[in-house]
Amino acid sequence: MDVSEAIRSRRSIRRYKAGVKIPKEHFEQILEAAMMAPSGCNMRPWEFAVVEDREILSEIMQIHPYANMLHTASAAIIVCGFPQEESSPAAGLWPQDCGASAAYILLESKGLGYGTCWCGVYPNEDRVEALKNIVDTEGIPFCIIAIGVPNEDPAPRGKYDPKKVKFM
Ligand SMILES: Cc1cc2nc3c(=O)[nH]c(=O)nc-3n(C[C@H](O)[C@H](O)[C@H](O)COP(=O)(O)O)c2cc1C
Repeated sequence: MDVSEAIRSRRSIRRYKAGVKIPKEHFEQILEAAMMAPSGCNMRPWEFAVVEDREILSEIMQIHPYANMLHTASAAIIVCGFPQEESSPAAGLWPQDCGASAAYILLESKGLGYGTCWCGVYPNEDRVEALKNIVDTEGIPFCIIAIGVPNEDPAPRGKYDPKKVKFM
């Protein structure tokens, strides 16, 4: 699948084939793509937790009100970020870096035949703190990405809106 097709056919998937195990090589390929995302001053201020443990996935569903798709997902990938010091030229850019890596996760997963759903965490303080404890990270949990083999096939959306574009 080429990049354009992956972008145009990707949809958020909230129903997955339960019980499917994703091979470790696929997680590594997906996270390699995540780490190839552009990053301000090339700081790459990210870390990723792959959660397959059903008990931990249940804990995540208890602290995130819109992540019920984890019931059938094979795993959750938690993207965590590390802010740079105020004096750094990259100060404040970490959420953009994490967002770029999250988008790469979605597209690489799509290319491998997996469905995903991005669930927002940062900047909701309650979700950030609760997830920090669950995944035991020094970083700031930025988003949760549910991943699995799709059990639904939502139609691609055409979204080009010329009103939102200015050519100058
Ligand atoms: C920052 C962000 C936060 C999101 N949070 C959630 C979420 O908590 N739960 C959920 O089911 N979907 C979540 N989504 C998915 C959006 O609902 C979805 O991308 C949007 O409705 C467009 O649909 P599509 O992804 O199928 O094109 C989130 C997406 C983004 C980018």
